[in-house]
Amino acid sequence: MTAANRLEQSYDSHDLWRKDHDHFIHPFTHFPTFEKEGSLVIAKGEGAYVFDADGKRYMDGIAGIWCVNIGHGNEEIADRIADQARQLAFFNTFVDVTNPPAAELAAKLAELAPSNLNRIFFDTGGSAANDTTVRTIHFYFNRLGQPKKKKLISRIDAYHGSSYLTMALTGRKDDHYGFDLPRDLVHYVSCPNPYRRAVGTTLDEYCDELVAELEDKILELGPENVAAFFAEPIMGAGGVMVPPPGYHRRTQQVCRRHDVLYVSDEVVTAFGRLGHMFSSEPAFGLEPDVITCAKGLTSGYVPLGASLFSDQIYEVISRPETDPSRPEADLGWFNHGFTYSGHALCCAAALANIEIIEREGICEHVREVGPYFEKRLASLEDLPLVGNVRGSHFMLCVESVADKRTKELLPTSIAIGQRIADHCEQRGLIVRPMGHLNVISPPLILSREQIDELVDILGASIRATADDLVREGLWR
Ligand SMILES: Cc1ncc(COP(=O)(O)O)c(C=O)c1O
Repeated sequence: MTAANRLEQSYDSHDLWRKDHDHFIHPFTHFPTFEKEGSLVIAKGEGAYVFDADGKRYMDGIAGIWCVNIGHGNEEIADRIADQARQLAFFNTFVDVTNPPAAELAAKLAELAPSNLNRIFFDTGGSAANDTTVRTIHFYFNRLGQPKKKKLISRIDAYHGSSYLTMALTGRKDDHYGFDLPRDLVHYVSCPNPYRRAVGTTLDEYCDELVAELEDKILELGPENVAAFFAEPIMGAGGVMVPPPGYHRRTQQVCRRHDVLYVSDEVVTAFGRLGHMFSSEPAFGLEPDVITCAKGLTSGYVPLGASLFSDQIYEVISRPETDPSRPEADLGWFNHGFTYSGHALCCAAALANIEIIEREGICEHVREVGPYFEKRLASLEDLPLVGNVRGSHFMLCVESVADKRTKELLPTSIAIGQRIADHCEQRGLIVRPMGHLNVISPPLILSREQIDELVDILGASIRATADDLVREGLWR
């Protein structure tokens, strides 16, 4: 098969490269590298694979970026999007207008969500979902007559988005560099990183420490000042950090004790990645007050996010309010929203996506092959360069080290994750480099054979990288 007919359409890849290079400011860009190398132009997707503009095929080891859960090029979702575009692509949903997919999707998410998260606000992505959540929680405590209860607690290395507000919630300190943040709004506790816990500490003791640290932080700030704790069930961009058993349940107990709301950021972990539509409750025994989601909600086919609020929060924010000092004012308004909240086409895509996940048994598939994936990837820990393989189901990560015994890292200048990713790319696999990590989060449709293919290419790439380092005199 030639490159052109693989793509069904031919591209002038150099022309695209040049236009992109000269005009597109990319998200999370390292400008010096971009100046030199520009971008890989991905032109097509099919199942678990994508193709560049020259027709070279790659296994998509990152599902676009934690998104394309049902796989690329799904005709059914494409048709449903097209049908909805013909029917009604968009009409606003302000105040008293809705559309059929938005109404259906809100009810469907309420059905899928744990406990009483029955009230859904539609956002344009994950950052917007967390932004909405912060604003709504502040509004909630104002309504309760607790206007001081505003501070938020997040965790070092958490990722919650890139808007002004959610970058403050994001605890990846390097991401803050050079930008401004709102002051004294967000406070941080430790990232749960069992691999790097103190030598001699058991997982239970480590969990005790983390839980006590959260409680100490709330007490230090004053519970009357703390509105919410934000946490991803498994930290994604922070390095696929799986917390010690019981962590979420116990941190929620701490929050409940101090009337602090628990927000579970499921932007990555929902819609099958850990084998459940929402992972908070079935995988972690957590009953959050709010869940935020995006990405896998539409499998990335179109942008959409959602904030799922509990009945209790809704009851407070929707209660008509009166202010004796302003008898004429109508205080029943919730003045928050986006033009595209409840976008008909995006909601139709999400409904189709959820139908596909349910009908194809994708959560069951992930629960069945996930442990095999974990085991196959864990075999890479035998390689001298690999210190730790961690994660759960289809959310996995490999950590490279200079010394397995001391867990010492290689110098940042070696860019070990990038080197491994480059070797993978040459061999037809895309994995995500993050410092000394390589993240693996493929579409959830991978068969066992495709899991083998991914792990084999990654293993060969790590071995080739180790050989490079030795040859260049950078290691051992
Ligand atoms: C856990 C988590 N929350 C929020 C976001 C932000 O989502 P978005 O990029 O759609 O704004 C991300 C993005 O990667 C994420 O991983």
